[in-house]
Amino acid sequence: MNKKKLGFTTRQLHADGHNKPLHAHAMPIFQTSTFWFDSPDHGAALFAGEAEGHIYTRLGNPTTEALERVLASLEEAEEAVVFPSGLAAIQGSTLPFMKQGDHLISGDTLYGPSLSLFGDIFANYGIPTTFVNTADPDEIKKAIRPETKFCFLETPANPTNKITDIKVVSDLCHESGVKIIIDNTYATPYNQTPLTLGADMVIHSATKYLNGHGDVIGGCVIGKTEDTEVVRNYRTGTGPVSSPFDSFLYLRGLKTLSMRMERHNANGLAVAEFLEKHPDIDKVMYPGLPNDPGHETAKRQMKGFSGMVAFELKGGYEAAKELLNNTEIFILAVSLGTVDSLIQHPASMTHAKVPKELREMQGLTDNLVRLSVGCEDTDDLIEDLETAIQKAKAVVGV
Ligand SMILES: Cc1ncc(COP(=O)(O)O)c(C=O)c1O
Repeated sequence: MNKKKLGFTTRQLHADGHNKPLHAHAMPIFQTSTFWFDSPDHGAALFAGEAEGHIYTRLGNPTTEALERVLASLEEAEEAVVFPSGLAAIQGSTLPFMKQGDHLISGDTLYGPSLSLFGDIFANYGIPTTFVNTADPDEIKKAIRPETKFCFLETPANPTNKITDIKVVSDLCHESGVKIIIDNTYATPYNQTPLTLGADMVIHSATKYLNGHGDVIGGCVIGKTEDTEVVRNYRTGTGPVSSPFDSFLYLRGLKTLSMRMERHNANGLAVAEFLEKHPDIDKVMYPGLPNDPGHETAKRQMKGFSGMVAFELKGGYEAAKELLNNTEIFILAVSLGTVDSLIQHPASMTHAKVPKELREMQGLTDNLVRLSVGCEDTDDLIEDLETAIQKAKAVVGV
């Protein structure tokens, strides 16, 4: 193949490499903890980095490495390092570069436990975090200190879909020697490639769209080799590796990412448009809607707007609870990015531990409902929501 740059779907299907062990077509699951050596000299050469091969699965595993090749290719990066969860990936992308006294800037709108990782756990180790509204670059500028190492943010951000201009913020951070990490879980590399816009590293909760089938907890850090080598050594030295079976499932899920994302993008937009016109809905947060404050930036940096939709139902938390109780297709569960649709209530679930003042600052109200719009037939999803809204209205009387 001599085409300079292969398309996304071709890369998603072929970047794991054709030369698989024993002429296998699909990458086998190397469910082994260790690998035998031909001789003591062979073992010594492997340990010395003078021979190619595998030693022990914490140090490297062929199934996980095949997955890493695909992830790097899709994010247009040099390398990817797989972790057993998204939170482990966030820790792996930051902690090995930091020491006590360093400082972090983080978006104020993040997955709840990511906020706690920075605000509670890192703080306990003497690494403070300043949380800012990254949609306003001036806020980042003001927060930068001489000891600031990273700016970490999600765009679109969980759960309100706040959009940050990746290029503007990357340029701004680089002027002060601060590296920027984007959590690209919501968008996926199909819709947005932050590294091509200037970001230094990308992380994913691969539990979500990358795997897509809701059967794996996984994560990854993706970027330039000079950074991913540090991340990989940290992973080897501290131990959070993916099980080969999980890597296999996650690699298999990736084979259909572009096809799934086209469908998530179309269904997400259709559901957001339906809700926006609905008389019982106060507000819809979806970057694909022309009225959304992040729409212009999202249009520049995203190819599609994904399947995550947040909205406020008239009638407060009581109405939201009734809605959640009455959907039949949307499954009441946290997580997101699965082929089937999910519905949840961030203020009492994924973001329950975020202090109420911070939730309010982010626009995360008690009647905000979050949808992960799946790949079902669009009409069925809309009818399911309409029926549940009417039932909620009948009970709460909005
Ligand atoms: C945007 C985002 N980042 C990170 C995470 C953490 O990922 P994991 O649950 O795989 O550790 C999540 C989980 O929901 C998430 O939504």
